Amino acid sequence: MPHIIAPSLLAADFANMQRDVELVNESEADWFHIDIMDGVFVPNISYGMPVLKAIAKHATKPLDVHLMIVDPDRYIKTFADLGSEILTVHYEACTHLHRTVQAIKENGMKAGVALNPHTPVEVLRDILADLDLVLIMSVNPGFGGQKFINRTYQKLNRLSTMRREMNAKCLIEVDGGVGLNNSQQLTAHGADALVAGSAIFRATSPLDVISELKVS
Ligand code: DX5
Ligand code: ZN
Repeated sequence: MPHIIAPSLLAADFANMQRDVELVNESEADWFHIDIMDGVFVPNISYGMPVLKAIAKHATKPLDVHLMIVDPDRYIKTFADLGSEILTVHYEACTHLHRTVQAIKENGMKAGVALNPHTPVEVLRDILADLDLVLIMSVNPGFGGQKFINRTYQKLNRLSTMRREMNAKCLIEVDGGVGLNNSQQLTAHGADALVAGSAIFRATSPLDVISELKVS
């Protein structure tokens, strides 16, 4: 299966959101990556439900929603109602992760769990079989445009091995500092989905970068 490209709208031009959503619609990208930050779990606030509603009105591809918020259980139904196809919560933000994952699925969405750079992949061993996606953060969450953390490759190796050993079916997504300089290495290390914000929206031709990421 060719890998998935998920442009992060965090790097879009918020004053021209419809234009940038349509750009992704017309591109070879597969998903929209939507970063929701609460200023508590991460030291930044991005955008919330009304903006997601506006994005969903124009988006023609699945919404891959990444919650960087504390107590995500409070909003699971809201994000389902807004049209999220995949809902990813942070391992570090969930005391009862199994319950949260079940609630995401009961609300008709695919369930993802994200890991901060310092969190070892082994903490997911007993829930991996229940997950549709594992998101490996390759920067500390909170901001776009940061430098990729090289240790990510080792985490990908270990997660791919664990997935194979357990015969689990989850996709592996990488988020943060991803671009044409590392996309090939990431997919070679087992990444199925690549999130890219700055690499796409700061480029002179975002459509070309998406096409290149897709074949890399
Ligand atoms: C960071 C977000 C990322 C961010 C990636 O906390 O989770 O999705 O938008 O941005 P780039 O690709 O610029 O590192
Ligand atoms: Zn993200």
